[in-house]
Amino acid sequence: MNARFERTGALTELTSYPQWAQDMVAECEDAKQGVVDHELWSIMRNGDLDASSTRNFMVGVWPVIERFPGYMAQNLLKTRYGRSPGDNMARRWLVRNIRVEQNHAEYWLHWAEGAGVAQGEVFHGPTPLGTETLANWCEEVSGNAPLAAGIIATNYAVEGATGEWSQLLYDSAAYKESFPASSRTASLRWLQLHAAYDDTHPWEALEIVCTLMGTAPSSADVAYLGECVRRSYVSMQITLDRCLDARRALWAMSEEAAA
Ligand SMILES: [Fe+2]
Repeated sequence: MNARFERTGALTELTSYPQWAQDMVAECEDAKQGVVDHELWSIMRNGDLDASSTRNFMVGVWPVIERFPGYMAQNLLKTRYGRSPGDNMARRWLVRNIRVEQNHAEYWLHWAEGAGVAQGEVFHGPTPLGTETLANWCEEVSGNAPLAAGIIATNYAVEGATGEWSQLLYDSAAYKESFPASSRTASLRWLQLHAAYDDTHPWEALEIVCTLMGTAPSSADVAYLGECVRRSYVSMQITLDRCLDARRALWAMSEEAAA
C-alpha cells in the first residue's frame, strides 16, 4: 500500500516525516552514535592524532569519497521519469547533486595534504586492512538494492552521520589551528562543506525515500530500510576502528615497554 506522502512541515524536523520513518530513525540512533561518538573525533579535535593514523584515515576513507558520485549515479540509473512522484524527485535531486559532489574529491585531497598525507599516498598507498567495509557496502546497496534503499543508506545515513562528525571537527579551534594559516581555509573546505549546519542533503534524501515509500509501507519494507541504515552506520564505525589500529598497536607496544 502506498498512501502518498507530501511533506508539509519543515525539511529539517523529523516530525515532518511519516511515523514509520521517525520510528526507523529512532531505532537506528544507537548505531549512529557509534559513528558520531567515535573516539577518533575526540583525538582529532584535541589535535592528538598521530601521523600514521592520520594517514590511515585519509587513505582508508578515500574510496568512499572518490566513489560517492558513482553511488548516486548507480541510484540514478534505477529511476524512471513519470513512474511516480518519488521517482521524479529522486531523478531531479540526483542529477543536480552529482554535480555538487564534483569538487569534493579534490577538497578531500586538499585536507589530506594539509594534514601531511600526499596525494600520491592517497591514490597509491596501501589501503589499511578492513577499511574497505564501508565502500563495499555502499557499492553493494547502490548497485543492487532498490532505489529507496540505495538513497537511504548513502545520502541519508552516510551523509547524515558525516555531517555530524564534520561539524565536531570543524568547530574545534585546536583542530583548525593544527593546519598552517596559509593553507587552512583550503585544507578545511571539505569539512566546512560537510558540516551539518550547512548540509540539508540527508534531510532531502529522507524526503525522497518517504515520497518513494509513502506513509504506509509494508513492515517488511520498513525493516529492510532500517537494516540498510544500520549497516551504513556499522560499516562506518568498522572503517573508523580500522583507521585507529596503528595507534592501538603503538599503545600496546609502549605499555609492554613500560611494563
Ligand atoms: Fe560530498
